[in-house]
Amino acid sequence: MIFAANFKTNHTRSVTRAYLEALTQKVVDGECKEDVYVFPPATALDRFETPITVGAQNAYPAHNGAYTGEIGVEQLDEFGIRTILIGHSERREILHEGQEEVAAKFSFFKEQGFEIIYCIGEPLEIREQGDKAVMEYLLAQFEGIDTTYDKLIIAYEPIWAIGTGRSATVAEIASTHQSLKQSVNKPLLYGGSAKPANIKEIIAIENVDGVLVGSASLEVESFYSMIAA
Ligand code: 13P
Repeated sequence: MIFAANFKTNHTRSVTRAYLEALTQKVVDGECKEDVYVFPPATALDRFETPITVGAQNAYPAHNGAYTGEIGVEQLDEFGIRTILIGHSERREILHEGQEEVAAKFSFFKEQGFEIIYCIGEPLEIREQGDKAVMEYLLAQFEGIDTTYDKLIIAYEPIWAIGTGRSATVAEIASTHQSLKQSVNKPLLYGGSAKPANIKEIIAIENVDGVLVGSASLEVESFYSMIAA
């Protein structure tokens, strides 16, 4: 199972270091066999002595150059970062990253050999139209994406379940994951209000290969209790 923590715009450099030290200790002491990932904000990226994979939440598709406010591969290389999130709904919706831009970013980081956690997810109005509309919407988010890439992990995160405390139901996750797996046969994570209280039922669902966790990953105890469950 894959357990990934997306800090989003939370935690400082020092808090992130203390978090990773504490989580590493638990993972090592607990002889944890799961694949654990942490995605801190860009300012907290660093080299850490840990079996945990530390990745970037975002980067610009360039080695370096004139892209004010962005970081590129040069800045990730400094810390040996080889994993990246692409297509998160917050970047699509709030930062207005369109599918073409997302696909260009994907192609670039694929060329660089990065492991990519590629995020997809539908808004509530699409979910309310039923399963067929949901799948059409989700499959459109694979436009321009090489779904055969060997270092690809998919994260299905329904937008209406993110940060709302209301996770998708077991039935919704089960049917969406089953349909997605038929189109793209890659490890498939669920994200959206995954937390200690619902982790057992989520990871027991067929075709769920792990979780991408926001809010409930911000405290070490909470995130580790999900891994240990
Ligand atoms: P929450 O776990 O806070 O709903 O966030 C999920 C998410 O967006 C992870 O990328």
